[in-house]
Amino acid sequence: MTANRAKSQAVLDRGIKLFRNGLRYDDERRRSARRGYRQPSQIIIDRAQGDFIWDLDGNRYIDFQNGWATNPIGNAHPEIIEAVDAAHRRFGFHYDHPLRYELAERLAEIMPAGALPRFSYEVSGTEAAEAAVNLALCFKQRRYVITFAASYHGNSLGTKLLSGLDSGNLRYMEAWNGGAIKAPYPYSDVVPAGMTHAQYAEFCLWYIDNHIPASVAPRDNIAAIMVEPGLAEGGNWIPSTDFLQGLRRLCDKNDWLLIADEVLTGLGRTGRMWAVEHYDVIPDLLVVGKNLSGGIAPCAGVAARDDILGDNPDSSSGSTFAGTPAGCAAGLKTLEIYERDNVVAQAAHLGEVAADVMSGWRDYGVVNEVRQNGLLIGVSFQSPNDDEKDEWIAKAIRSRMLDNGVWAISDRESNVRLYPALNMDEGTLREGLARMEEAIAHVDRHGQDLGDAPNLPTGTI
Ligand SMILES: Cc1ncc(COP(=O)(O)O)c(C=O)c1O
Repeated sequence: MTANRAKSQAVLDRGIKLFRNGLRYDDERRRSARRGYRQPSQIIIDRAQGDFIWDLDGNRYIDFQNGWATNPIGNAHPEIIEAVDAAHRRFGFHYDHPLRYELAERLAEIMPAGALPRFSYEVSGTEAAEAAVNLALCFKQRRYVITFAASYHGNSLGTKLLSGLDSGNLRYMEAWNGGAIKAPYPYSDVVPAGMTHAQYAEFCLWYIDNHIPASVAPRDNIAAIMVEPGLAEGGNWIPSTDFLQGLRRLCDKNDWLLIADEVLTGLGRTGRMWAVEHYDVIPDLLVVGKNLSGGIAPCAGVAARDDILGDNPDSSSGSTFAGTPAGCAAGLKTLEIYERDNVVAQAAHLGEVAADVMSGWRDYGVVNEVRQNGLLIGVSFQSPNDDEKDEWIAKAIRSRMLDNGVWAISDRESNVRLYPALNMDEGTLREGLARMEEAIAHVDRHGQDLGDAPNLPTGTI
């Protein structure tokens, strides 16, 4: 059933060498071939529209990758393209344009409980996460921020140090970390043997409230806790209400700020406008990105309490392209369509459909967990056989999904992550999940005979 992907492969063979670790590409391929592994399946997109993408060889895929969760109402949405084009034609690029004010006003209206009325623009989620930390440190006039072991906040120098997902990412950066304290995160693969997630969550809260102030940094020199209310890159883990409400309580008790990084979970991904709304938690700062672009023009930023953004003279953030006319036009049109078409309610409904379809998947031996909040969906896999790494199972399933015409994410992890568009056609969602189940059943029956090669530079996927 393997599709012809010769043209995609030719572009990858030529192009991937230009990127990081490109010099290793040929060598790794030869080594993998000698060991009998197949190259990881990758595609290059020729065209994207609505719920689908097409690769250079003309194969069509149901898009669960979604520009890495960045096309909330489908690929290349014509109304957003039109709004962005109009902004280009009218303004070109200028910093001082009216859309920047209009979008900030609109965002203030939709923030949780109307509690975060001010907004500061950035280009990317990475910059927005950094800006939130800068705002918190300057506002509290303190040095430290607590983040989590399994978190991902971006790939700049600052956000590498704030993130805990991959210690390899921090190598040689050690000297730059003056203030990020990593706390354990209870919802990840790393849980002490014999402990449930709920018990570990209790321990993590205790650790933050007791161990850190006693042994790492004085309570009154900590400005904030930054948390993802739904781990994204960490494998789409869903935290409990007890944990998130516990963090809010600790922040209130200790006079710390709570920063919710909703770059990926925000703007409908979980079936509510903001993931924190599932938990009845109101953060002091909320980081926005990805979906705000409408999948067309980058737009990101930080929403914050009145005083934190409104009266914080030591802080500074933003850059030349923060809040471009095109980005703001994309954000405004996206939010207009959300309201007109009840997009967040559609996402909640599709989340229920997905939950129903996936309800029996735990019966497959290779399936470890099915995790979900709305359309934040992660399926983690385990090898039935101890000498195979779990992540190869995930890679084999993702490859088989590609062969079945479904595009999803499996990066450096034992999960396959799905980010369907929030308004995906229900039949297409069901079809994509059915094809995914076929891939799971196939690998469950035959083992990881697709044999993806480990360690190849993946570049674009
Ligand atoms: C929670 C979270 N924060 C920040 C970022 C960084 O956003 P960007 O890649 O747009 O810079 C990401 C990206 O995946 C994310 O998931």
